[in-house]
Amino acid sequence: MVIGFLGGTGPEGRGLALRFALAGEKVIIGSRDKQRAGEAAASVAELAPPDSVTGGLNDEVAFASEVVFVAVPYGGHRATLDSLRELLEGKVVVDVVAPLEFKRGRASALRVDHGSAALEAQAVLPNSTVVAAFQNVSAEDLLEPESSIESDVIVCADDEDAKSMVIGLANAINGIRGVDGGGLQNARYVEDFTAMLLNINRIYKAHSTIRIVGI
Ligand SMILES: NC(=O)c1ccc[n+]([C@@H]2O[C@H](COP(=O)([O-])OP(=O)(O)OC[C@H]3O[C@@H](n4cnc5c(N)ncnc54)[C@H](OP(=O)(O)O)[C@@H]3O)[C@@H](O)[C@H]2O)c1
Repeated sequence: MVIGFLGGTGPEGRGLALRFALAGEKVIIGSRDKQRAGEAAASVAELAPPDSVTGGLNDEVAFASEVVFVAVPYGGHRATLDSLRELLEGKVVVDVVAPLEFKRGRASALRVDHGSAALEAQAVLPNSTVVAAFQNVSAEDLLEPESSIESDVIVCADDEDAKSMVIGLANAINGIRGVDGGGLQNARYVEDFTAMLLNINRIYKAHSTIRIVGI
């Protein structure tokens, strides 16, 4: 499978791309700038299997990928998706965005149109299948390929096949378990909880994540 990353030059996109490349997938790192895409792809490729990582402009990534991850900051989320709407038609779009703001070092969840970044993405991309996942996984942990990430990834989507596929991708990362989080309307709870984790990180000087027990 070819998996693309819009905003893939950032730590979250590079981290996920690295983990999926290590799991045997082909990945394409996307950027608004060709040179930045190439540099980020080269840095991920150093740690990944041969010929598994390339880079390109975001529109090239949207065109060439079967599954497209959205890994831009919330401030660029709507405009990025708007500009790629036609290229993303018929594709699975995985939204990892958590809309947050920071005041004096403290994180809080933003109230956004449609209730969540994922629902906003689905409204902007009516002919794509949006899946929400990975909002609670730290990029720093993803970028350490030797380490197992003891975490659950809650996957929310209205399309059961797309959701199963993304749960499979989550399970392919060392230590991660994909958990069915129900429909896309539940993504807001996962996005919002990222703010709680970042505040816990600040208190404990750690990279916290989530584990669901009892299932
Ligand atoms: N960092 C984490 O630990 C983490 C964990 C879970 C979820 N997330 C989510 O993942 C997303 C990416 O996180 P990140 O830390 O990797 O973000 P980031 O480094 O701030 O941004 C990622 C990339 O997005 C592109 N970008 C920046 N501003 C943009 C804009 N206005 N419009 C379009 N593209 C823009 C940039 O790439 P180019 O300049 O190369 O285009 C940048 O390298 C965020 O929405 C975040 O909520 C992050």
